[in-house]
Amino acid sequence: MSNFEHMNLIHSISQITRAQREQQNGHKSLVVWFTGFSGSGKSTIAQEIESKLFKQNFHVFTLDGDNTRLGINSDLGFSPEDRSENIRRVAEIAKLLLDSGALIITSFISPFIADRKKAKSIIGEVDFMEVYIDCPLEVCESRDVKGLYKKARNGQLKDFTGIDSPFEAPTSPDLVLKTAENSVEECVDYLFHEILKRTRLTD
Ligand code: ADX
Repeated sequence: MSNFEHMNLIHSISQITRAQREQQNGHKSLVVWFTGFSGSGKSTIAQEIESKLFKQNFHVFTLDGDNTRLGINSDLGFSPEDRSENIRRVAEIAKLLLDSGALIITSFISPFIADRKKAKSIIGEVDFMEVYIDCPLEVCESRDVKGLYKKARNGQLKDFTGIDSPFEAPTSPDLVLKTAENSVEECVDYLFHEILKRTRLTD
């Protein structure tokens, strides 16, 4: 039961349906949910697929740590509780954007199975595509683009995923992209075709 039931809140009474928006956009809406270690390639793949879809006139938008943790989630850190709340809020935002007819890419470590499961239930199973950006920890650590693994190893950064905080890999993701074995272009092409299949309008 909602805490706000007593406030008599009702669902949006927009006269425009999601289906109408999808027709106008020329594609179905969908949430493409990335999960993977820091340094696994989530941001790179997100940027590339977003550009590719945008060029094809998709109404596409990416949610990531940069545009959420600096703003709406700026009160959250990296404890398991804060990560859960981070993911819950992102899922709620993605759900709203889904109703706008957009294709949403979310790029977060989202290390816990329970949190991703909750995100899937908030968004809805059919509108949720889980993409595992699969890259061995050793490779992510050797890349260390932001220098954070080094800090975590030195003890300067606590609760770092893969070092002293767990990552629970998906057991049955919709798609796996192996960024250590395949090029960015290969991963993006594969993802692009899967997104096209899932977002094609039926009539
Ligand atoms: S999540 O676990 O809550 O999904 P999120 O994707 O938002 O994490 O943020 C991860 C990014 O925050 C990393 O790519 C890294 O740049 C930065 N970061 C800072 N501290 C940590 C930490 N303790 N663990 C993981 N990432 C961290």
